[in-house]
Amino acid sequence: MRRDATPRRYLMCPPAHFKVTYSINPWMDPTKPVDLPIANAQWEDLRDRYRSLGHTVETLTPDPGLPDMVFAANGALVVDGRVLGARFAHPERAAEAEIHLDWFRSHGFQEIHEPSHVNEGEGDFAVTTSYILAGRGFRSSPLSHDEAQEFFGRPVIGLDLVDPRYYHLDTALSVLDGDEVMYYPAAFSPGSQAVLRRLFPDALIADSDDAAALGLNAVSDGRHVLLPQAAAGLLAPLRDRGFEPVPMDLGELLKGGGSVKCCTQELRM
Ligand code: ARG
Repeated sequence: MRRDATPRRYLMCPPAHFKVTYSINPWMDPTKPVDLPIANAQWEDLRDRYRSLGHTVETLTPDPGLPDMVFAANGALVVDGRVLGARFAHPERAAEAEIHLDWFRSHGFQEIHEPSHVNEGEGDFAVTTSYILAGRGFRSSPLSHDEAQEFFGRPVIGLDLVDPRYYHLDTALSVLDGDEVMYYPAAFSPGSQAVLRRLFPDALIADSDDAAALGLNAVSDGRHVLLPQAAAGLLAPLRDRGFEPVPMDLGELLKGGGSVKCCTQELRM
């Protein structure tokens, strides 16, 4: 099958002030030092790779008091040019939401919804052609799913996350193209696994090693799939489906519990 990339627009935030000073997910160990020059180089590689693939990357100005800001995916969900702002579950990240909203206000986005319920943007929302998939259990409130459905007018499918290592939907599931996804079943409740099987019978199923390498934290442009390089088991199945995997090293950012997708918010116009 021939796969075509479509040009995308991404919002990213350099890890200039990235560090692990608190722990809000099991990947974060504040006693482990972060090598900031390496983190910056890895992030720049990702940004440059997007640009070399023909995508547009916009950047947010990092705030010295917000060490997790590099995980820009969490700051909003943008579909059809409409912006659902984030509302963070943990006080450590709360101030990021307003910075994202300000960015959208100053970049010509007209339809911006300030959320009433906790949602961590694309951390817990994934957009397919037919649905918005929405994670809950660790961060985003189930009430945010109704809020997203009402705002976007697209069917929102709630999915229960059950493994604390996969605390955001984007650590356990990734949209490859259209209504094609890959995911790690054990991150979901039995009922949510059944829903995923019903909606996506042909999904690429990841194993525990690939999930543990955060291999599902991937970004696809319809052809190229940028993913953490340690998720080696996903390369062959992606190629078999006609995708071109692009392994990336974001090892320093993994110390914060994030990788490719967490660093990348897609602006869907
Ligand atoms: N340290 C961040 C947190 O726990 C990591 C966020 C990763 N982002 C993501 N989209 N999964 O909130």
